[in-house]
Amino acid sequence: MTTLTTASLTTVLDGLIDADRSWRLDIPAVDSMSPEERQRLMQSKTEYRELYSLLKDAPLAVSRETAILLYMLARSMRARNVVEFGTSFGVSTLHLAAALRDNGGGRLITSEFEPSKIASARANLTAAGLVDLVEFREGDALETLAVDLPDTVDLLLLDGAKGLYPDILELVERRLRPGALIVADNADYSPDYLAQVRAPERGYLSVPFAADVELSIRLG
Ligand SMILES: C[S@@+](CC[C@H](N)C(=O)[O-])C[C@H]1O[C@@H](n2cnc3c(N)ncnc32)[C@H](O)[C@@H]1O
Repeated sequence: MTTLTTASLTTVLDGLIDADRSWRLDIPAVDSMSPEERQRLMQSKTEYRELYSLLKDAPLAVSRETAILLYMLARSMRARNVVEFGTSFGVSTLHLAAALRDNGGGRLITSEFEPSKIASARANLTAAGLVDLVEFREGDALETLAVDLPDTVDLLLLDGAKGLYPDILELVERRLRPGALIVADNADYSPDYLAQVRAPERGYLSVPFAADVELSIRLG
């Protein structure tokens, strides 16, 4: 048995995946951007707030495969403490919380600066019966993840503004236990982050896979 296949969770996930599939980028300010401008904003360390405000109704969820992978990784390592950068409507949060439930409990800290997204994610976690495992931190993750983290973190998901991946890693890094995993979605947008986790002296082993994910392990 896995929490992933319970009716309460599959109903919520099916709704979110349908919403993601039917969502079309139809925001003039984003549609009219050149590919270069979009790329620049995606990588920006200063203009991410403007970009994600335009995208406040966009699900932007991890792929179904990445979501299931998150569940599998958290299960296999018996994760108890998870930190997530970028909640949106909660697809990844639901999978990570399901893994914590099946591991016997834990704490998932998730960060999002769009209040309407936090409200939707909280409703989704509640409907799935997993909200008791999740601590929602509303505001810029640069601030909300700078305080009150567990002494040890088993798994870190990076899925917010790509230009901030190096900074968020810096905030959480000293809490990462030996063997902790970091999953970074769309990490290609953050060359600085890739340089960080791929530099042998930084103490990680890191591989890209599935086209858009960088998986890294904190060495002991
Ligand atoms: C790619 S989406 C996250 C998708 C989510 N992980 C899922 O699977 O459903 C990125 C989210 O991060 C939020 N975000 C981006 N930068 C942030 C920051 N600095 N602090 C808090 N939230 C941020 C955006 O508002 C957006 O909702």
